[in-house]
Amino acid sequence: MKNFKDKVAVITGGASGFGHEFALISARLGMKLVLADVQQDALDKVRAEFEAQGVPVLAMRCDVSKAEQVQALADATMEKFGAVHLVFNNAGVGSGGLIWENSQADWEWVLGVNLWGVIHGVRIFTPLMLECAKREDGYQGHIVNTASMAGLLNAPTMGVYNVSKHAVVSLSESLYQDLSLVDAPIGASVLCPYFVPTGISQSHRNRPGDMQNTAAPTASQRAAQVMSDKAVSSGKVTAAEVAQRTFDAIREGQFYIYSHPEALGNVRDRMEDIINQHNPGDPYKAAPHIREKLKSVLKG
Ligand SMILES: NC(=O)c1ccc[n+]([C@@H]2O[C@H](COP(=O)([O-])OP(=O)(O)OC[C@H]3O[C@@H](n4cnc5c(N)ncnc54)[C@H](O)[C@@H]3O)[C@@H](O)[C@H]2O)c1
Repeated sequence: MKNFKDKVAVITGGASGFGHEFALISARLGMKLVLADVQQDALDKVRAEFEAQGVPVLAMRCDVSKAEQVQALADATMEKFGAVHLVFNNAGVGSGGLIWENSQADWEWVLGVNLWGVIHGVRIFTPLMLECAKREDGYQGHIVNTASMAGLLNAPTMGVYNVSKHAVVSLSESLYQDLSLVDAPIGASVLCPYFVPTGISQSHRNRPGDMQNTAAPTASQRAAQVMSDKAVSSGKVTAAEVAQRTFDAIREGQFYIYSHPEALGNVRDRMEDIINQHNPGDPYKAAPHIREKLKSVLKG
């Protein structure tokens, strides 16, 4: 996709972090914005920010884990702007701890947002984009799904998140293959960031009341929270830089997008372990102090 001016961008999780940065670049490129989020105060703030700049914007409260709310988002987009060109299935949340200690609510919440959110986005917006392509001469579209390096690696105490993000990588590669098969004028990319300062480690701020845990957090869950707060807040690459790399990739039709390509050695090691039938290696090989810290916390 190379033409952005006057085109329509839909961004889930658009009120914060990567989503907000995607919106800023989209606006600079002259696009019309559809911003979907569950955090109303953040959504109100970004709506006011873009309206003040004269950017056409539809800001809508939408829980991406709910099919009917994503359908309502698509309907409202078509009603207001009459087309869709660029879709970011980006909303995401996290929950840590030893995998057998995660509750059913942890699994349902994280898979609901991270995986079902992308499923609904692809299932509902792709046919709409294909319809738009039939009506608009020279139509160009693109879909970006936000996964994570956790979609290519499996670090300990991140199991629920890892599962959700591996599924998003698979879904995105499948989407790419299927769009190519039918020669659709729609590209696809998967964004796999490493730790980048955003609100992600505080995603429990938006956890719905009916998805709360009744039990107190376990030692592993407390340790995972401390680790993720530290890793995310000390990330050196900014969300704005990642958003710029993402737009460069959209222009070039590049599928895999990374924030920290230097971390891909771990992915190569994992692939070699799989091919050579070696048992899974240590994803913290380059940072053994993290593994030692986790072990000592879990021993009490
Ligand atoms: N920041 C990182 O280090 C990092 C690394 C890898 C992947 N990611 C992924 O990046 C994506 C964006 O997260 P971020 O880092 O910008 O964090 P963020 O918390 O700043 O932004 C996420 C946004 O999603 C919204 N959201 C949460 N639940 C939602 C729901 N049910 N429906 C709609 N919106 C919802 C939040 O309100 C928030 O505005 C996520 O998919 C996340 O998993 C982040």
